[in-house]
Amino acid sequence: MKVFAFGASGSDTSINQKLAVFAANKLPCSTPIELSTLEADDFDLPLFTSQKEQELEQSTGSKAHPKAQALLDKIQAADVVIVSFAEHNGNYSAAFKNLFDWASRIEQKIFQNKPTLLLSTSPGGRGGKSALEIAEKSLPRFGAAVVGSLSIPSFHEAFNENMSMLRNDELSYRMDELLKTLSSHAS
Ligand SMILES: Cc1cc2nc3c(=O)[nH]c(=O)nc-3n(C[C@H](O)[C@H](O)[C@H](O)COP(=O)(O)O)c2cc1C
Repeated sequence: MKVFAFGASGSDTSINQKLAVFAANKLPCSTPIELSTLEADDFDLPLFTSQKEQELEQSTGSKAHPKAQALLDKIQAADVVIVSFAEHNGNYSAAFKNLFDWASRIEQKIFQNKPTLLLSTSPGGRGGKSALEIAEKSLPRFGAAVVGSLSIPSFHEAFNENMSMLRNDELSYRMDELLKTLSSHAS
């Protein structure tokens, strides 16, 4: 199964990247998992403005920023998508929102009808739930076939030492059930 899992964060120490990869590696699957992801550098593109877009078109002949196209290509190649949202001031991280804005100028249905699991985590007790709620409401309009969502509060206390399992039984059970559902939707 081809899995595209990434933290919606521009940080190179992203806890949401860790959570997305944790979830991908737990997907129940009879074939090996082929994992693709995003690195911090993949979020490093100019702040979107129509002027920046025009400059890009004038210099390259295309409005498609290569890093936004790379995001779309990774989604297109995947059977399933896992995104874990960093929360900044109750919202998406600016890094993710900017990449998302550039990508939406190429293809409005960014998620291309792929089965998608939405996660979030933060060091605090709400686990990035506000950003997750924004994603739950809006991403179906951008082509995400959302199979479910889960936030993990208090990231730094949530896992065992080698990050092989969630300490909380209920969260662990809900994660496993969501991953079963996601796997069952893989094409
Ligand atoms: C500018 C800024 C705003 C933040 N706002 C929130 C917030 O609203 N809610 C929250 O739970 N954590 C907030 N945090 C803490 C982040 O959850 C924490 O930095 C987390 O590590 C971000 O996820 P990441 O490591 O995947 O980038 C904020 C952090 C920064 C730097």
